[in-house]
Amino acid sequence: MTTAERLGNISLGEAMFTQRAIRRFKPDPIPDEVVRDIMEAAIRAPNGGNTQEWHFIVVRDAEKRRMLGELYHEAWWAKRKDAGINGPEDIPPGKSPMRSAMRMANEFGNAPVMVLLCSTVRSSAGAGSVIPAAQNMLLAARGFGVGGTITTLHPEVMDRVHQLFGIPDTALVVYCIPFGYPRGAFGPVTRKPLAEVCGADHWASPFQ
Ligand SMILES: Cc1cc2nc3c(=O)[nH]c(=O)nc-3n(C[C@H](O)[C@H](O)[C@H](O)COP(=O)(O)O)c2cc1C
Repeated sequence: MTTAERLGNISLGEAMFTQRAIRRFKPDPIPDEVVRDIMEAAIRAPNGGNTQEWHFIVVRDAEKRRMLGELYHEAWWAKRKDAGINGPEDIPPGKSPMRSAMRMANEFGNAPVMVLLCSTVRSSAGAGSVIPAAQNMLLAARGFGVGGTITTLHPEVMDRVHQLFGIPDTALVVYCIPFGYPRGAFGPVTRKPLAEVCGADHWASPFQ
């Protein structure tokens, strides 16, 4: 059976419409063959000129995950500080993506698998080519009941991330995606209505 056949477990529509950001994970390991299928989906993604200027690092080693978890936590707060948020007391109470992102920053190192998505060239075109690969991975993961969230790091930790994983200076870490079986459920995503964000033949003519 091929990766494509295994992904037939779930319809494309169900995967696309229920693949929300999963930020809390069960500790259960993800079988190697599932991780492999997720990566096989990644490298099928569209990319500029089919030059495939990307490189992925699948992180499963417990110590490396712990260390990346610490760096992620530091990066997350460095990003918040750039935005004038200095601690949990500055984050509005109640359910919000920022609050759940903060919680994930605390628990990041517990994700059973993390993938660093890198561009082999330090250009916006190279970085742009990694974006479809990230979405392919999330959709494939969804097909296997595995959740994840696209995350970015912060310049403050980049040298240490490069060092930890032997990433050459000529490459760029674009995203870091933690994966795991969700604590909680997949479900429909909340988005603005189409007519608000899509024009018909003109910016200001709502698409119906
Ligand atoms: C480019 C990009 C960067 C993101 N960075 C982060 C991040 O650093 N931390 C995080 O928790 N979520 C991050 N997210 C996830 C978004 O917050 C999430 O996709 C958005 O809130 C929609 O969530 P939903 O699909 O569950 O509705 C990122 C998403 C994208 C596309």
